[in-house]
Amino acid sequence: MEFVEANGATIPAIGLGTWELRGRTCAWLVEQALRIGYRHIDTAEIYENEREVGEGLRASGVSRGDVFITTKVWTDHLARREFVRATKESLTRLRLSEVDLLLIHWPNARIPLADTVGALCEMKNAGLARHIGVSNFTVALIEEAVKLATEPLVVDQVEWHPFIDQSKVRAACRRHGMAVIAYSPIAKGQIVGNDVLKKVGAAHGKTAAQVSLRFLVQEGAIVIPRTSRPERLAENFAIFDFALSADEMDAIRALAHPRGRIVDWTGAPQWDEPER
Ligand SMILES: NC(=O)c1ccc[n+]([C@@H]2O[C@H](COP(=O)([O-])OP(=O)(O)OC[C@H]3O[C@@H](n4cnc5c(N)ncnc54)[C@H](OP(=O)(O)O)[C@@H]3O)[C@@H](O)[C@H]2O)c1
Repeated sequence: MEFVEANGATIPAIGLGTWELRGRTCAWLVEQALRIGYRHIDTAEIYENEREVGEGLRASGVSRGDVFITTKVWTDHLARREFVRATKESLTRLRLSEVDLLLIHWPNARIPLADTVGALCEMKNAGLARHIGVSNFTVALIEEAVKLATEPLVVDQVEWHPFIDQSKVRAACRRHGMAVIAYSPIAKGQIVGNDVLKKVGAAHGKTAAQVSLRFLVQEGAIVIPRTSRPERLAENFAIFDFALSADEMDAIRALAHPRGRIVDWTGAPQWDEPER
């Protein structure tokens, strides 16, 4: 396992994404992931699975202190009072006294950012979150949030995989000592058919998905792939026993496109596309 350091946080470089995992399947997958070595789980109030994430954590037998748990406050709950309530409800569902990382899931232009960032910092000061950060924030929003925050922001969680160029957001995070958590790191499965990734993978005895995850980790990201299949839990975790060469990294970087988003945000309010 590798770790990424960011403004005082030490974050496992791979975590299990849990979007769309529900019920017993979710609890079981979280338990299995922890048993095979994952030490970082990504959830959110909007995923409606925090209860099951907590169950999986307890069933795994892994010490609470050894696991990095992230949750996120949804965009409808960014006014101060709602934010506090949503955070406490997340902790109740998880049956935890604190999360390791609490994120603003999505910016909301109708709520002053100062209120939301103030509430986020308050959650850290109250001991409900060890670290705090943002998600889906543009360069401009990162700059604004950093100015408003009285506590260090440690990450921006954004869509990032080989098909998308996130160099501007990455540079903004670097300027402020923040790490980038790459969500949809295997492009929701679309990575598997890519010829460049398959060819690079063949040279290392690895799959295209493993190459995508390894590429992002070598770029300094934290990756949170999601799978509902136990065999893929192990596949996605097996990315620390090989390294991509400079030429391979360049070949994969060439796949990136400024408009390379693949996540469909139709219907989601207040989306402000990250600048690149
Ligand atoms: N902050 C945000 O706004 C935000 C937005 C999106 C996602 N996220 C977080 O990021 C996590 C990951 O993103 P994601 O779920 O959108 O997409 P992803 O992890 O890139 O892809 C998941 C899809 O890829 C398939 N898959 C997984 N491992 C595979 C492998 N080794 N080979 C081939 N296919 C594979 C899965 O299918 P099977 O289940 O069949 O394996 C699933 O359909 C989420 O679960 C969530 O925790 C955050």
